[in-house]
Amino acid sequence: MTNHKVENGRRKFLLTVSGGIAGLAVGSLPARVLAQPAGGPPLNISTIGAGREGGALGALFVKAGHRVMFSSRHPDTLKGLVDEVGPLARVGTVAEAVEFGDVVLVVVPYTAMEQIGRDYGNALAKKVLVIDVSNPIARRDGTEIVKWVDDHGGRA
Ligand SMILES: NC(=O)c1ccc[n+]([C@@H]2O[C@H](COP(=O)([O-])OP(=O)(O)OC[C@H]3O[C@@H](n4cnc5c(N)ncnc54)[C@H](OP(=O)(O)O)[C@@H]3O)[C@@H](O)[C@H]2O)c1
Repeated sequence: MTNHKVENGRRKFLLTVSGGIAGLAVGSLPARVLAQPAGGPPLNISTIGAGREGGALGALFVKAGHRVMFSSRHPDTLKGLVDEVGPLARVGTVAEAVEFGDVVLVVVPYTAMEQIGRDYGNALAKKVLVIDVSNPIARRDGTEIVKWVDDHGGRA
């Protein structure tokens, strides 16, 4: 896969998702989201990817009282994490996580974004909020893609 292809996939993914978010008028947000944003009723939050970053972020949301579904392509491996995080945490497949969350955290290696956008972009575009923290890292993704993103105004 070329860097250009990955970046185009990511751009398409972000455009689809941001278009969906922009299309959501405030009036269409679930009442429970509007009612009390801080310290209010619990939200359904899901993570696509539950490694170092997704595991830590999801655990913080559970600590704040929200229901969190952790997912990866191998959900069976996440049982220990969920047992540790507590009863508000659960495990699902990526498709189940996309379905479950009002808010979805995308926390995967940068090179996985194209496939996630292709498979779940339309569904994610209907979410209240999608947070993507993925970025290319030279030691994992190679220096070429990091340079390409930097050269095109992104931040690695
Ligand atoms: N913005 C920031 O400040 C910041 C800080 C730290 C990390 N990050 C970024 O966050 C992302 C995750 O980093 P990490 O350290 O948490 O990585 P990690 O520990 O390697 O975890 C990656 C997770 O993504 C899952 N995954 C991989 N490919 C997938 C796919 N195609 N579909 C669904 N899930 C997939 C993996 O599970 P399976 O292999 O079981 O599917 C794993 O749960 C990276 O892009 C990293 O650069 C950003």
